[in-house]
Amino acid sequence: MSSTYPVPDNVAEQAWIDAAGYQKMYEQSVADPESFWAEHGKRIHWFKPFSQVKDVSYGPGEVKIRWFHDGTTNVAHNCIDRHLDTKKNDTAIIWEGDSPSDHKHITYGELYEEVCRLANAMKANGVKKGDRVTLYLPMIPEAAYAMLACARIGAIHSVVFGGFSPDALAGRIRDCGSTFVVTADEGLRGGRKVPLKANTDKALESCPDVKTVLVVRRTGGSVTWAEGRDLWYHEELGKVSDDCPAEEMNAEDPLFILYTSGSTGQPKGVLHTTGGYLVYASMTHQYVFDYHDGEVYWCTADVGWVTGHSYIVYGPLANGATTLMFEGVPNYPDASRMWEICDKHKVNIFYTAPTAIRALMREGEQPVTKTRRDSLRLLGSVGEPINPEAWLWYYNVVGEGRCPIVDTWWQTETGGILITPLPGATPLKPGSATRPFFGVKPVIVDAEGHHLEGATEGNLCIADSWPGQMRTVYGDHERFVQTYFSTYPGKYFTGDGCRRDQDGYYWITGRVDDVINVSGHRMGTAEVESALVAHAKVAEAAVVGYPHDLKGQGIYAYVTLVAGEEPHEELRKELVTWVRREIGPIASPDLIQWAPGLPKTRSGKIMRRILRKIAENDYSNLGDTSTLADPGVVDDLVANRMNRA
Ligand code: WTA
Repeated sequence: MSSTYPVPDNVAEQAWIDAAGYQKMYEQSVADPESFWAEHGKRIHWFKPFSQVKDVSYGPGEVKIRWFHDGTTNVAHNCIDRHLDTKKNDTAIIWEGDSPSDHKHITYGELYEEVCRLANAMKANGVKKGDRVTLYLPMIPEAAYAMLACARIGAIHSVVFGGFSPDALAGRIRDCGSTFVVTADEGLRGGRKVPLKANTDKALESCPDVKTVLVVRRTGGSVTWAEGRDLWYHEELGKVSDDCPAEEMNAEDPLFILYTSGSTGQPKGVLHTTGGYLVYASMTHQYVFDYHDGEVYWCTADVGWVTGHSYIVYGPLANGATTLMFEGVPNYPDASRMWEICDKHKVNIFYTAPTAIRALMREGEQPVTKTRRDSLRLLGSVGEPINPEAWLWYYNVVGEGRCPIVDTWWQTETGGILITPLPGATPLKPGSATRPFFGVKPVIVDAEGHHLEGATEGNLCIADSWPGQMRTVYGDHERFVQTYFSTYPGKYFTGDGCRRDQDGYYWITGRVDDVINVSGHRMGTAEVESALVAHAKVAEAAVVGYPHDLKGQGIYAYVTLVAGEEPHEELRKELVTWVRREIGPIASPDLIQWAPGLPKTRSGKIMRRILRKIAENDYSNLGDTSTLADPGVVDDLVANRMNRA
């Protein structure tokens, strides 16, 4: 039995939604989604109001998802212009640099000018509505300006996380055919420089279609320059005006592409569109974080992930909020940094990932308790299941038992939060994402797709659409249909396992496909495998996740070398370095086991279930291995397993 934390009276009193309000609104939202979303769709400004609300088919036949599809609007107009009458001099973005001595406030008025100038500079250099623009930037205000500038002129941005390798960047540039890249000379994280321009130069060796690279000067470090291709951001912005009209966009015009890992093949370009996405991002930001005007809100994600898109930039700015953007890392210069930032900027709402909590927890309470944190009133968690131990530490030590924690479950594909407590409405249970947001109908199914009722466990699907849902995989609608709508026809399949308890609370148990979650970052095991087999000495590789104290899941690789190659320690290190270079540091294998052979069925299919069990150090019950082509390989793998925790 887990304990329940009731909603504190003072929280319920000031919250947008209380328990009765949640119940009523939720029921309305699922009983009559048309009128519910017709009403809430009005929360953003439309140039031409919509008359159509929901136009969705999950199949059979065509899979089609459209919301508000005859309305027109502009995301940048909603995130900036709309607030200028009342908030021109209010802070839109607080930027906190890597160094504690570096910060600045950007008002809505300044944001308008910065975004308009950049939008004009992009137009002057040939960017048009519908063009794809790749952003490969550190956590500096220019990242937000660039996203909004694209939105303003109707270009589609594709943000690539600054920790990705040149190869990963190149693949993402080519997949969406972008011809314009925005990057910086170098990034700065934890006192260390990240060679973003050099990485871009390397990536562009295999991207001949890129015509222009706009470079933000962040560190002033030296960079090589391709004349005719590379332009300095500050120089280009100096040539244009600070007024740029916001393009009138259809609700279903694309807003951005964001690459994410799946169970097979290369990362897919998740496509989000304009109207429904913004309605959903802003509505969830307001209600889940119970955001009230004037509060300081901080989401610690990187803009390279969907959390940064929806909950650093679009949701908060659409709501006229003050959003904090942090360039650095949680343990630099020391383990108090996060809480010092909370004190310095009087942060009211703080949203981070369990992996950060676990890392800070390891440093003990003192780095936390030496700070005040008295401005904090609400905490949030995202990215992976939060273990109750970390939850309790977050709640008791960081929040001093005073701040509710919203454990928000969602995905790149969902655009915004789908399952979450609302601080004024939902009693909390440590480790549970609790209840669905408005309009969200979770269903739990068994392997055959039968609905399981009541307290149960199975695979998590969503029965009907919500406005923030992804619309397609860029350039590959068939893959979209196959990935999300074919396993359980007529439903969106999340890829997550889930338990529902007797109170109707949802507990996400983790991925049920070949995706792993490493420090809250999504990795396809197939991607790590293909990086490994690209090494000349590797014949075959199989990658699985295993429980890791800090990262949630670690990367466990079984590697078979080509005939004649002998395993040795140096080669192990070389392979780790190799994968870091191929994909990026987040994909570094934690454990590599030399595997003379892999367990395969007679038809040649690798039995991942067995590999997962061995990696989990749970090898006593491997199930039936008699169907394997060579049952003997399993004994060798067990005997030489790397994780003996
Ligand atoms: C996992 C991140 C448990 C889940 C927004 C999902 C979570 C994947 C939670 C999506 C949570 C995210 N509790 N698991 N609160 N939030 N996940 O696309 O497995 O980077 O499918 O989106 O992270 O990761 P993505």
